[in-house]
Amino acid sequence: MSKEIILTGIKPTGTPHLGNLVGAIKPIIEMSQGRQAFVFIADLHALNMIHSPAELQKYTLEVAASFIALGLDTSKAVFFRQSDVPEVAYLSTLLMNVTPKGLMNRAHSYKEIQDINREKAFIKQMRLLEEDTVLNKTFSEKCKNLKDRYERLKSEGNENTEKSNQLKVLLEEFQNITSVFEKRYKEHVGKSKDERLIEKVFEFEQKVQKNVDLDIGINMGLYTYPVLMSADILLYNSDIVPVGKDQKQHVEFARDIAGSFNAIYGETFKLPQPFIQEDTGLIPGLDGRKMSKSYGNQIPIFDSEAELKKKIMRIITDSKLPEEPKNPDNDTIFLLYKHFADAAAVADLRTRFEKGGLGYGDAKKILYEAANDYLAAPRARYEALMKNPKEVYALLGDGAKRAREVAAATTDRVKRAMKLDYFN
Ligand code: ADP
Ligand code: TRP
Repeated sequence: MSKEIILTGIKPTGTPHLGNLVGAIKPIIEMSQGRQAFVFIADLHALNMIHSPAELQKYTLEVAASFIALGLDTSKAVFFRQSDVPEVAYLSTLLMNVTPKGLMNRAHSYKEIQDINREKAFIKQMRLLEEDTVLNKTFSEKCKNLKDRYERLKSEGNENTEKSNQLKVLLEEFQNITSVFEKRYKEHVGKSKDERLIEKVFEFEQKVQKNVDLDIGINMGLYTYPVLMSADILLYNSDIVPVGKDQKQHVEFARDIAGSFNAIYGETFKLPQPFIQEDTGLIPGLDGRKMSKSYGNQIPIFDSEAELKKKIMRIITDSKLPEEPKNPDNDTIFLLYKHFADAAAVADLRTRFEKGGLGYGDAKKILYEAANDYLAAPRARYEALMKNPKEVYALLGDGAKRAREVAAATTDRVKRAMKLDYFN
């Protein structure tokens, strides 16, 4: 067994689907074989999204049962629930103090949500204006109206009070927006595309960006997410952290944070390495986009046989006739099949796609048979576990005990380094 410690966590934020199976659960189980592995359900991390206790409990159980049913060897891997090891919250609090705030500002995950907030604000403003036209005001009328109000404000000599300044900014904003729409309106009634319009839209976007609260809906759990993740990684002395590409930066943050701590308090933490899981390619969902709970296009791993069949039959395809040749590499049916059949069967289906003569209906049946063969035994195990969750909780409880031994040793070491143990 390799001496290296590997660790990874998976957030219980939804019912596990085939994308999670291929992109996360299967590779984690494979990597944990023959190594010292820590695998945990990151329920504390899920809390920044999920505030319903019933939901969190459901997903935690489903994710845990999925790992067990799909073959994670819990007698070897330390498999546990993050919140069962309170030392992680303690270490996280200590690490906060050696973590620059700027590092959190640079987190892709945080910046992405800010980008979404920016987009949403822009769209909301646009919509408000569109609704206004439904109320039957022409853009130019609206613009004139606003100009009048603006002029009146000026003539009243209220230009420099706090309130009027705010009003002025608002009116300017509206003027800008309406002129965008005025231009667009002209375009609609026949004028050719105008450079100025693009400029105006850009200016409008800048204004919206300046005035919008980019942190709407972002709680401190989300903002400090990378510190808690660093605590996960450092608490168990991890050498290797297998993660998807999107999480690489977080592991690098853990290295940075460990480095800052060591520089201040002396060598205490090993520096972990991210291991980017081999690109399995994104698993497409029913509509051909990335399979994701955010798109509602997922196939849960442990759907019943009948449900699995129904969903596979619903996969959206193009309108090619059976006899036409098809490109397997951008076909959802084929891309899913690759993960459930052996190499010879995959090569065979590839040829049938390329040659023509195979209709989508038949291809779906072939996929269903393969997926169902692959999933039947784990499904039976999963269903048994879901009927008897106590078995899952007992396994997680045992894992937590083993995890806490390591966690306690690490926190002792950290306290010694920080001299927090001065009266023990
Ligand atoms: P979702 O997109 O449904 O919200 P998550 O972000 O919770 O899924 O996914 C957890 C992990 O599962 C990801 O880090 C990624 O490794 C894997 N994963 C999710 N969807 C896919 C997919 N369509 N193809 C491949 N891997 C995926
Ligand atoms: N942030 C990871 C994700 O969203 C889950 C996670 C939490 C994790 N703590 C971790 C992964 C520690 C690796 C190591 O997928």
